[in-house]
Parts: sequence; C-alpha cells; structure tokens
Amino acid sequence: MPMKLPKTLNSLYKEIIRQLQKSGIDSADLDARIIINERTALDLSDIITKPDAMISDNCLSKIQNDINYRVAGKPLSRIYGIQEFWGLPFKISKYTLDPRSDTELIIDITVKRIPKDAPIKILDLGTGSGCILISLLSEFPNAVGYGIDSSIEALKIAKENAILNNCEERISFICCSWFEAFKHNDRDFNFDLIVSNPPYIKNQEIPVLDIEVREYDPILSLNGGDDGLQAYKDIFPKLNKFLDHGGFALFEIGYDQEEDVMRLAEDAGFALRSVHHDLAGNPRVVDIYSGDK
Ligand SMILES: C[S@@+](CC[C@H](N)C(=O)[O-])C[C@H]1O[C@@H](n2cnc3c(N)ncnc32)[C@H](O)[C@@H]1O
Repeated sequence: MPMKLPKTLNSLYKEIIRQLQKSGIDSADLDARIIINERTALDLSDIITKPDAMISDNCLSKIQNDINYRVAGKPLSRIYGIQEFWGLPFKISKYTLDPRSDTELIIDITVKRIPKDAPIKILDLGTGSGCILISLLSEFPNAVGYGIDSSIEALKIAKENAILNNCEERISFICCSWFEAFKHNDRDFNFDLIVSNPPYIKNQEIPVLDIEVREYDPILSLNGGDDGLQAYKDIFPKLNKFLDHGGFALFEIGYDQEEDVMRLAEDAGFALRSVHHDLAGNPRVVDIYSGDK
C-alpha cells in the first residue's frame, strides 16, 4: 500500500515522484507537476515559493487515484482527457491517438518552408484529434484545411479541438477513407500541402507495444496491416492528383520504414523526395514534392 499522501505541497510533490519512480515511470518529475497542476490551484512556481501550502483531503484523494492509474500504465493525458501539442491544448478520447511530440516535426518543417501569410490549402489524412492540421492553421492565419478520418468519433473530438483553438471557420472535416470523398478533377480538392501521420504499426507488433499504447490508443490509429505499410500503399498512387503544382506532402513514418516508404513514393512516380529526422536521430518524416502535372 502506498503511504498516505503528505498535506503540504513540496512534500506532496516529492511523494508523488517517489511513487511514480518506484514503478519505473521515467517522466515521474514531469508527471508529478502535471498532476499537481491539474488537481490543485497550484503549479510549479508554487512548489518553490509556497512549499508549505496545504492541500485539501479531497484533492489528495483524487491525486492518489491518479497516481494509482498512472502506475497501472494509464497515461496522464488519458486520465485528464487532454494533451499538449505544438504548445496548444487538444482534447483526446478513446477514439483518438494521443498526439506525440515526434509528430510536431511536420509543423516544424512547414513553418520553416512556407511564409506565414501564405493562403495555403492543407489536407490532413487521418486527422484524429486534429492536432497536425489545427497546429498548422494556428501558424498560418490565411490557410484553410480539410481533415479526413474514417472514424466519425475521432472527428467529433477534432471539431471540438478546432473550436477550442479558434480555427473552426477555416476547417472542414470529412468522414471517409483517405481520398474517397474527392473527385480527381475537382479544383476545390487540389492542395498546396498534404500531411499525414497514418497508422504504420505492423499488426503482429501491436500486442507487444507498451501498455500506454496498446491499451489506450485506438487500434484504427495504429494498425498499418501485415507490413505496416498499407496506408502508404493506398495513399501514394493517388497523391499527385490532389497535390497542386509546387506543392508537397509530409508523411510520418516508423523509425525502420525509411527505405520501404521511399521506395513506395518512387513507385508512385515521385522523383523528388527526402527524409527528415526526429530529435532522437530516427527517420521520422518523408517529404514528397509534387511531380509535373
Ligand atoms: C496515427 S493516427 C494519427 C492521428 C493524428 N493525425 C495524430 O497525428 O495524432 C491515424 C489516424 O488515421 C485514421 N485512419 C485510419 N485508417 C484510415 C482510413 N482508411 N482513412 C482515413 N483515416 C484513417 C485513424 O482513425 C487515426 O485517427
């Protein structure tokens, strides 16, 4: 049984860290701060400036519950239903992937390449919580975006996130499989930028993923088929029809998929392509330029 939580802020902070570390949670310090922030009216600066601030029994009981869930493998984002991405808040549910910081590389590449005031049209394939598209719209005030997902439940959350982040008037969500809803010759559906973090885990690897992933991220957001490449195989052959001349597409990939995904892009006729690496040095985003139209 964990010891009873101390009632003063700094001791509480240390005890949360102790319980989380004992269970092997690497992010114990950060998690302790998030828990305190979420469950009390206090934050990190108060831990330093008001170490003896008293915490109510009601808060302590909620905090102990949170620690117990966290120790059992539930991510804090799933406990509180919210995750930060690109510095913005995103609601999440059991129907949406928990946004990952590695995916922010897509936003980073785009803001370095496109002028801030450009009136670009963006398509996000497999939008989930909407984190990629909404973050891009927050960076490009004259941009409009379409978010596609085959999960209507995920799209409900994405719409809430568009409202939460004040871009609902520049965004349209469509429930379909990849390009299914678009006609090839419709000028409305020609994009300057196509982004996607598709499902790319091999289905036989899903049962051995970390508990945070296999138990809490929806299977539809993970399952890339037998070889993990199904989404790229479905999307790439149609990609050029929907990319405007001079446009480009950014696809997140798994750490070991660079060769396969680059080959699939080449097979689909894309001669100009490159790979960007994440902070850990792994290949993370495949960058594809539109071919001659
Ligand atoms: C890895 S998640 C990415 C979610 C979000 N873009 C992110 O980066 O956090 C993949 C998303 O693709 C959606 N998806 C899976 N198959 C799809 C399909 N055939 N057509 C459209 N969306 C699909 C899933 O529902 C899920 O929301």
